[in-house]
Amino acid sequence: MSLLEVKNLKKTYTSKLGLMQVKALTNVNFSVEKGEYVAIMGESGSGKTTLLNILAALDRPTSGSILLNGQELSKIKDAKLSAFRRQHLGFVFQDFNLLDTFNNQDNIFLPLVLNNEKYRTMKHKLRPVVNELGISDLMKKFPYECSGGQKQRVAIARALITDPELVLADEPTGALDSKSTDEVLRLFEKINEQGQTILMVTHSVKAASHAKRVLFIKDGSVFHQIYRGERGYDEMFETISETLSLLAREDGAHV
Ligand SMILES: Nc1ncnc2c1ncn2[C@@H]1O[C@H](COP(=O)(O)OP(=O)(O)OP(=O)(O)O)[C@@H](O)[C@H]1O
Ligand SMILES: [Mg+2]
Repeated sequence: MSLLEVKNLKKTYTSKLGLMQVKALTNVNFSVEKGEYVAIMGESGSGKTTLLNILAALDRPTSGSILLNGQELSKIKDAKLSAFRRQHLGFVFQDFNLLDTFNNQDNIFLPLVLNNEKYRTMKHKLRPVVNELGISDLMKKFPYECSGGQKQRVAIARALITDPELVLADEPTGALDSKSTDEVLRLFEKINEQGQTILMVTHSVKAASHAKRVLFIKDGSVFHQIYRGERGYDEMFETISETLSLLAREDGAHV
């Protein structure tokens, strides 16, 4: 059984008066195995954020099914969704989503606090994660006192502290300079090598070339995919760039 199975997923947005319909996802099918590192790419408006929001259980699909570890997301009641999200998923966003009124440590503790964990347990879980990410000396600082790269590492720690089955990342390097981007990409690779499954949406060919597989979505469905296999970063970068320009050129035709 795959960790994540997405079948015949459709999402149609209807305007308030019901006059306008946008088919954001027309028919999405893919699965992710435990331990994979998958990037999702596609042009602006192709449905990436819509897909990620549905996978994150922040939005419901119009139809179709999502199984996480065999559990059907649509069967989870609204009242149980946030707990489900905290217990099974980790999130990394482009703009970090850290609370400026909390110091970094309390930001990382937040999902555990919401899960009613004891302070001792939280402290115990914190150490290995922050050591791994190289941010142990930033714990008493506030997010506004940190650089973008440091903030993103704090956000990654917050995503990992609950030991989630799946980390979902939306443009995690979108707001970072190239040095911090490299740092964050290295960390993603490291945590993936340690067994963490990652699904990342990105516009960045560089970020995607670090993943083990890249899915391309176009007009609301998965159009093509590339496995990195034995390719190095540069070779993967080239292949992704070529595929993207082919996708942009070949309007409507499958690669
Ligand atoms: N809440 C909404 N209501 C109506 N239409 C929406 C809504 N959210 C997204 N859309 C539409 O659905 C389509 C897919 O949007 P989505 O945000 O998923 O694209 P994206 O691939 O994430 O784009 P980008 O790369 O620019 O972030 C677009 O046509 C968009 O206008
Ligand atoms: Mg988007």
